[in-house]
Amino acid sequence: MRKPLLIANWKMYIDSPQEAKSFVASLKRTLKKNSGVEVWIAPPAVFVSELGKAAKGSGIKVGVQTVSAYEEGARTGELAAAAARAAGAQFAIVGHSERRAMGEGSEQAQKSLANAARTGLAPVLCVGERAREDDGSHFAFIEEQLRSALKGAQSLASRLVVAYEPVWAIGKTAQDALTPQELEEMVIFIRKVLAEILGRKDALKIKILYGGSVEGANTARLLHEGGVSGFLVGHASAKFDEFKEIIDACQV
Ligand code: PGA
Repeated sequence: MRKPLLIANWKMYIDSPQEAKSFVASLKRTLKKNSGVEVWIAPPAVFVSELGKAAKGSGIKVGVQTVSAYEEGARTGELAAAAARAAGAQFAIVGHSERRAMGEGSEQAQKSLANAARTGLAPVLCVGERAREDDGSHFAFIEEQLRSALKGAQSLASRLVVAYEPVWAIGKTAQDALTPQELEEMVIFIRKVLAEILGRKDALKIKILYGGSVEGANTARLLHEGGVSGFLVGHASAKFDEFKEIIDACQV
């Protein structure tokens, strides 16, 4: 089995460069002793350059929480994928539900993903239903999110990561997360859809992560019984001690 991948999505939780750097220093010490996981960090974009330097040689990758659907031009406040790459970012989260809730649609997710991939950033595509329906229609919803975001992107498969994040489970506590059985079912479904879009061989290589209230308490079960390759962690990734609990739980 490959090392589980943990992506820390700091959102707007950390706003001091000192705190960000001290987190990375602690993380490096932890990973030296305990190299059974791979860790990527998505800090606020202004910290990417500094943290990229701090993480050099440690295997920790630094990336951005979003990139613009536009490539360049008069777009005040947007973050171009090329600029993120030049600042040292190695990956970009795209289509996060919190961006979608602010008005980004599937077309933007598709364009952001294509821009990220074109500039050499590994795209981390987030998909997730707002609510679970008894008739199972959330499966069709996830399929549509995958198909629209990956339109024309068949060649990007090698670096793609997919994060399944049911919106109803984000930002709560371990008790509110999905059960491992529900997760396993969804992971199989996502892999089947990826195989239809990208071909079976490439689809098998893609890491499928889970996100939504991952904490130290539910990590081991979700990892071992949920069939995922790792996690996209929000609130519990912004405090080092809590994140370390998740790293430790991946080892058992
Ligand atoms: P959460 O967030 O871990 O706080 O639920 C996950 C995410 O939004 O990526």
